[in-house]
Amino acid sequence: MKIESRLAQIGSISEPVTGAVSFPIYQATAFRHPKLGQSTGFDYSRTKNPTRSVLEQAIAELESGDAGFACSSGMAALQTIFALFSQGDHLLVSLDLYGGTYRLIEKIMSRFGVTATYVDTNDLDALEANCTAATKAVVIETPTNPLMMITDLELICNWAKKKGLVSIVDNTLLTPFLQRPIELGADIVVHSATKYLGGHNDVLAGLIVTKGKELSEQMAFLHNSIGAVLNPQDSWLLMRGMKTLAIRMERHEFNATKIAEHLLEHPLVDSVYYPALKSHPGHDIQNKQSSGNTGIFSFKMKDARMIEPILRHIKLIAFAESLGGVESLMTYPAVQTHADIPVEIREKVGVDDRLLRFSVGIEHVDDLIADLNAAFEAAHAELQEGGAR
Ligand SMILES: Cc1ncc(COP(=O)(O)O)c(C=O)c1O
Repeated sequence: MKIESRLAQIGSISEPVTGAVSFPIYQATAFRHPKLGQSTGFDYSRTKNPTRSVLEQAIAELESGDAGFACSSGMAALQTIFALFSQGDHLLVSLDLYGGTYRLIEKIMSRFGVTATYVDTNDLDALEANCTAATKAVVIETPTNPLMMITDLELICNWAKKKGLVSIVDNTLLTPFLQRPIELGADIVVHSATKYLGGHNDVLAGLIVTKGKELSEQMAFLHNSIGAVLNPQDSWLLMRGMKTLAIRMERHEFNATKIAEHLLEHPLVDSVYYPALKSHPGHDIQNKQSSGNTGIFSFKMKDARMIEPILRHIKLIAFAESLGGVESLMTYPAVQTHADIPVEIREKVGVDDRLLRFSVGIEHVDDLIADLNAAFEAAHAELQEGGAR
């Protein structure tokens, strides 16, 4: 069955008693045992909850994995995954990545003796040079947040396999509708489901998908032992959002491409980072390994002084700190999502004070372009007035 149909039907054929088309919310933490030594399959909701199980089966199947695990946030999912590692272990991690993942590794995992080296995960020589006897995994974001760097998943996951490393791919920006890393060789996929999967800026959630019996059993143990699991209400809300993922992603991509092309020609804009553009260095790899593009891109203004007034003048587009929802949001990574990355590292990869990240929603593209144009004009006029004074 095509992925659009599988998405729309999540949970709708799993409820055998009433035939409910929307799977019920099992708001229970404990389940009666029929008798000593017997279980209905559900004992305690941290371990397993019927509503969460439907979501977990759905994401495992959508990502072509063996097991799915729903967590209370994307960070909870990443922390659960990183609990696979022990003192002395080393990770190879994408150079450009979500600031919270960097913070988790550098400020928390480091206290447990897990270290990381940040490399361009598309550069096999750099990966090879930094891979030591202690290296256990490669952690990849593709596209990266916020610079949209692309990693050739097949190439790197195969390399990781030969080295005996676990490959972990953050698939938040593309979702299984557009890219399925496990089919390209990854062992673990992680999502901030708060983003496109939920899709409405109203549910915080994380998802993990594992491939292989051993990893799936290890993850089930960690998921239950750490306990950062998703509650039944949010499991239901996330499934409700996922049902419309396909049509939302198509509209996000359509809008983002039009606006990125518009900004590429704009005299006040220095550069646009969006893999759908032919000029993007990762364009061909992106086309090879995914069936479309995300709705997010970043762009750099020529003048950093434009940033503050632009964020003040956008009206339809909200100045807010997330991505992947139906409402358009604009973020300033240097002071928001990536503030925890030291300035010298941030600027080395290009996350500087001229960069804005735009999560393009599903509003009409003409309205979004009009809002941007008006904000740019107002910001430019203020700068000129300031200069003339
Ligand atoms: C790529 C990526 N991974 C992980 C996370 C963390 O997810 P959450 O905010 O749901 O904890 C984010 C959040 O922005 C993200 O963008």
